[in-house]
Amino acid sequence: MNVLLTGGAGYIGSHIAVELLESGYDVVIADNFSNSDKGVITAIEKITGKRIDLFEIDVADKVKLNEVFEQTKPEAVIHLAGFKAVGESVSKPLMYYRNNIDCTLSLLEIMEAHNVNKLVFSSSATVYGIGERLPYTEEMLLGEASNPYGATKQMIERIIMDTVSCGWLSAVILRYFNPVGAHQSALIGEKPQGIPNNLMPYIMQVANGSLPELRVYGNDYPTRDGTGVRDYIHVMDLAKGHVDALKYFQDNDGVEVFNLGTGVGYSVLEIVAAFEKANGVKIPYSIVGRRDGDLAEVYADVKKAKNLLGWNAKLTIEDMCKDSYAFALIEKT
Ligand code: WQD
Repeated sequence: MNVLLTGGAGYIGSHIAVELLESGYDVVIADNFSNSDKGVITAIEKITGKRIDLFEIDVADKVKLNEVFEQTKPEAVIHLAGFKAVGESVSKPLMYYRNNIDCTLSLLEIMEAHNVNKLVFSSSATVYGIGERLPYTEEMLLGEASNPYGATKQMIERIIMDTVSCGWLSAVILRYFNPVGAHQSALIGEKPQGIPNNLMPYIMQVANGSLPELRVYGNDYPTRDGTGVRDYIHVMDLAKGHVDALKYFQDNDGVEVFNLGTGVGYSVLEIVAAFEKANGVKIPYSIVGRRDGDLAEVYADVKKAKNLLGWNAKLTIEDMCKDSYAFALIEKT
């Protein structure tokens, strides 16, 4: 069974590709490599011993995307292609709306033309707006997104739900919390371009000596130790959630939304301490001002994915820290 991964060469997509190949699926990747490099494809094939069908295209390009469907005839699509840096979305909103929405509209139009009716969408906890009570549950009415990136995810969820309502599409929407970690081979992992925006890749670069110290964005939040709390989930657990989502289509149609998190929040300083303990390293840091757009605390209610998908996160914070560090050391060499 051919599964098309749009944006499949990225951090999340590459780990999903490994999990799919090892679960017996055939994988097609369509990616423009705007936030990834081709070495990832080689690494995926080395880890699994299987080949990837790769198309270097912009997913918004309907002519090229149509050719991918004609040549590979996918039975399902996992849609990850899109820009995803919160801060960048605040400074470049039009680029985010144009790219993320165009990719989705082009994909859905080509899927309809080829009668491909199974879609798994990579959504995000940022769709839960400002001030909603914790833990976030899928049934919550979504408030105003805290940034343009989150707004594109809200819009795409609505586009997908409306398309399901008109009858030809079935969809599973997966709201990721904070994916971190790397495949245990350390051949793939999180390698953002430039200075990392996110906490774990920043810690990784402090740990491997690429950056001098971590800046902790505020310690005056109403949390256990004043620093921001998030629900970190190992990227391999996240990848497994996508395989379970594909199986969900066997007995279900329509659309379902699932949180993919652990249900447990850790503060920035708790992550630093866990990373130091897991790897026997010191992570120097300094407390600086809050970052615009940050919420104090975010974590998931994960009962629905357990009950309906039979999925729950199994890997621990220690696993996340060890696997992140192993990849950071490989990247440094
Ligand atoms: C986590 C905590 C920061 C960096 C983002 C995206 C979200 C999703 C996951 C895609 C916060 C603090 C961070 C640093 C710090 N991605 N921090 N120093 O913002 O929760 O979510 O990634 O879907 O869309 O918004 O993750 O890792 O940036 O921040 O103190 O150098 O770490 O303030 O409390 P975030 P993050």
